[in-house]
Amino acid sequence: MMKVSVIGAGTMGAGIAQIAATKGHEVCLYDAFDGAIENSQKKLNKILDRLIEKEKISNDDKKNILSKINFTKEIKDIKDSQLVIEAIIEDLEVKKNTFKEIEKLVSKDCIISSNTSSLSIASIASACQKAERVLGIHFFNPAPLMPLVEIIPAVQTSKSTTKNVKSIIDSWGKITVITKDTPGFIVNRVARPFYGEAIRIYEEGIADFATIDWSLKEIGGFRMGPFELMDYIGNDINYTVTETVFKAFYYDPRYKPSFTQKRMMEAGYLGKKSKRGYYDYSIDMPIPNQDRELAKKILWRILSMLINEAADALFLNIASKEDIDLAMTKGVNYPKGLLAWADEIGINNVLNELQKLQEEYGEDRYRPSPLLKKMVKENKSFY
Ligand code: NAI
Repeated sequence: MMKVSVIGAGTMGAGIAQIAATKGHEVCLYDAFDGAIENSQKKLNKILDRLIEKEKISNDDKKNILSKINFTKEIKDIKDSQLVIEAIIEDLEVKKNTFKEIEKLVSKDCIISSNTSSLSIASIASACQKAERVLGIHFFNPAPLMPLVEIIPAVQTSKSTTKNVKSIIDSWGKITVITKDTPGFIVNRVARPFYGEAIRIYEEGIADFATIDWSLKEIGGFRMGPFELMDYIGNDINYTVTETVFKAFYYDPRYKPSFTQKRMMEAGYLGKKSKRGYYDYSIDMPIPNQDRELAKKILWRILSMLINEAADALFLNIASKEDIDLAMTKGVNYPKGLLAWADEIGINNVLNELQKLQEEYGEDRYRPSPLLKKMVKENKSFY
């Protein structure tokens, strides 16, 4: 069994180490900061105890998993690894320095990867002498539970590195999708309108948070509404992702962040973790307006924008249509793949909605993807 090292024992690193150890790898979990290693050890102990309570694993399994992990504050312990997964702070310079250090310690065949959500893999890889063995492996939180993993080859990455990593992560029981090294990869790019358009509908006074959430769940079949989900993710984190994607796309208005969410973040209304976000969690939840006609309009507008993003990602060859649909169903639990959904409701209807919005508002935010136009013209479907 190959040795896997994880750099950074925070939320993501600890989860990734748990997966690798559960799959029988020798794991080295390294963190540079005081307390981080002890914390991750304590947390993992608790998580494994809970899995025993739920009868998902036995006492022996727990012992086995823990015995596989070397919790360490010495980076030199990563030597002899065949795969390194970095999950430290989201800062390009710090990551680049760490990659330089990693490369000095491991053999020339070791694959070195980053779990970054928003940085370019090409710039991280540029810190390494042998950049062809560097790529992105993007897990979702919580890593042991979320099935999706985005694999991101950079321009420097060799085909064999991507192939090897895909087969390793597949063997861990994860669902892998391959995506181009572009801002937000698949999920964090295609999902933007779920939040952004929902906020816009609220800002225009069309409906309140509870009504928009109800529409998406009741009519759309989404597991959580946009405002509930933003409160769950945290308005600080969700806002930062939106702003990062917006800047990385050279300020394309399609990804423009909103003042509503910025003010939430500034006020400290971060969501569930601060007991106050779009909702006040110290009182009863507000009752939505259950007008089904209004709900259908709300869903239709948000869904059309989501489908537009998915189609545009396909148009620009960010990923295959199958991977784009898998990413959204397995990474963020959408009830259907967006492209399959477009076929079902009619691509022409989606295009009509976008053109209607673009005409009404005169904003580039609503411009339809050229692919949607082409498909309607040629009377084609995605599948
Ligand atoms: P975190 O703050 O929970 O953990 C980061 C850990 O890295 C901390 O324990 C810290 O002590 C350690 N660290 C920081 N600088 C270090 C250095 N120079 N050397 C060694 N250790 C260092 O952060 P989290 O949430 O686990 O995120 C880690 C990475 O994963 C980031 O790149 C983030 O963008 C990405 N990510 C986060 C997701 C999330 O939902 N939290 C989801 C997917 C990716």
